[in-house]
Amino acid sequence: MPKNEAALFTIPSSGDPGIVIHTAADEFVGYDAVCPHTGCTVGYSTVAKVIVCPCHGSEFEVSNGDVIVGPAPHGLAKLKIVEGANGNLYLQ
Ligand code: FES
Repeated sequence: MPKNEAALFTIPSSGDPGIVIHTAADEFVGYDAVCPHTGCTVGYSTVAKVIVCPCHGSEFEVSNGDVIVGPAPHGLAKLKIVEGANGNLYLQ
């Protein structure tokens, strides 16, 4: 996955959508992609480099999931993503 791109997947334990982002700083960060406002699935803006909710415009920090712009009442739940020696990404 190239830098500054994101992918959605299903979190096995909850069935929620998850989002993993390969940051410009070459790190992988992941969050539960369910927006804390009313539950839409968030996405990643490669232009603004923030996580955005398409429903009502909430924005979240890539680095920690915190809310930048509401109406979301709180940030996204962080997931632990690790990169295996084979280059695959794993959820811990
Ligand atoms: S559901 Fe995400 S901003 Fe409303």
